[in-house]
Amino acid sequence: MMMGYDNIWLPYSQMKLAPSPLAVAATEGSHIVLADGRRLVDGIASWWTACHGYNHPYIRAAVARQLGIMPHVMFGGLVHEQALRLAKRLCALLPGDLERVFFTDSGSVAVEVAMKMAVQFWLNKGLRGRSKCLAFKGAYHGDTFATMAVCDPDEGMHKLFAGVLPQNIIVDLPHDQASLAQFEATVERHAEEIAAIIVEPLVQGAGGMLFHSAETLRAIRATADRYGLLVIFDEIFTGFGRTGTFFACEAADVLPDIICLSKALTGGTMALAATVARRHVFEAFWSDDPAHALMHGPTYMANALACAAANASLDLFAQQPRMAQVAALSKHLAEGLAPCRDLPGVRDVRVRGAIGVVELARLDDLDALKRRFVEAGVFIRPFGRVVYLTPAFTIAEEDLAVLTQAIFKVLRGRAA
Ligand SMILES: Cc1ncc(COP(=O)(O)O)c(C=O)c1O
Repeated sequence: MMMGYDNIWLPYSQMKLAPSPLAVAATEGSHIVLADGRRLVDGIASWWTACHGYNHPYIRAAVARQLGIMPHVMFGGLVHEQALRLAKRLCALLPGDLERVFFTDSGSVAVEVAMKMAVQFWLNKGLRGRSKCLAFKGAYHGDTFATMAVCDPDEGMHKLFAGVLPQNIIVDLPHDQASLAQFEATVERHAEEIAAIIVEPLVQGAGGMLFHSAETLRAIRATADRYGLLVIFDEIFTGFGRTGTFFACEAADVLPDIICLSKALTGGTMALAATVARRHVFEAFWSDDPAHALMHGPTYMANALACAAANASLDLFAQQPRMAQVAALSKHLAEGLAPCRDLPGVRDVRVRGAIGVVELARLDDLDALKRRFVEAGVFIRPFGRVVYLTPAFTIAEEDLAVLTQAIFKVLRGRAA
């Protein structure tokens, strides 16, 4: 047993039954070096964050420089160069008039802030009834209380809390005429109670790596406009190139009213998130009335080290051919995972951008699969019914081949 393990509470784990976690000594590029000396090729990029690979020297240098100047200063009544520069750059990269950035320190909190902004948007306009969000089956938006209440209530990981969480409206994503009609009817029925519609654009991540089309997003935007509702895009997973365009909303050409960013924002280096609002959202808070202010302010918001890492990450996106690397990765993922289609027990193989997914009919041997992946020299973390890859955009072709071949071999071994 590792020293200190008795004092740790791990995420998403039944501690009594969970196999021992792997002790990591170091990370490097697309590799995880274990304390016992083994080296694994990483297929997950630390929950989809490390888009430039681990320990990128350029980000490391930027953080080290900032560490010498000022690791952190509170953001209440004070601002600093790294946060101002980052806010300006994010708004220049985002479409339309998404132009006010509220920094936080995790994805869940960024979504909480977006939901709070949406509800207060209406309160500030004198409308008290619009307090709910409309969210979609298959959604995952975080683990805090308000965000749990917009995750899939049946299939999602928070179903134990059913009946305890704040009430929202959860419907099927419109993907055909019937589901579109049902979605529109639900919006019409509840329009006076809804503050915003929230969706992960193009890919619902932790809810099962489920893909939907740009038309779905256009239908959501059109319906929201018909009833004057706000739209929140949770791009915490999809942002920064993961789905093939810099932001997923660009591919759909749909402008949300509020967008949430985190994960790859700092290239996987530091905790940072941003909730970015359009001008008309911000204007609902701009008032002579102090009560109309957004009363939120996490202690570590806009942490200077994290902002320095994010600025360095944006430099890398500007200087390096990252989006071309995503396109190449997409092609190699599709080729590498294609043979899995013929394996028994495989229901679907799908790829979008730098996300490769093998969906199984059943996955009741999760721990055994994880162990076999490690034995095959890779770190892959299946969940629900999916085995997936979200590697660093900089992964070497040989390493990617090791990942896709490991998936094929482990799943073939399982079927035999
Ligand atoms: C789409 C989406 N929203 C929100 C979150 C929550 O982010 P965090 O774990 O940083 O709180 C996640 C995390 O997986 C996510 O994928």
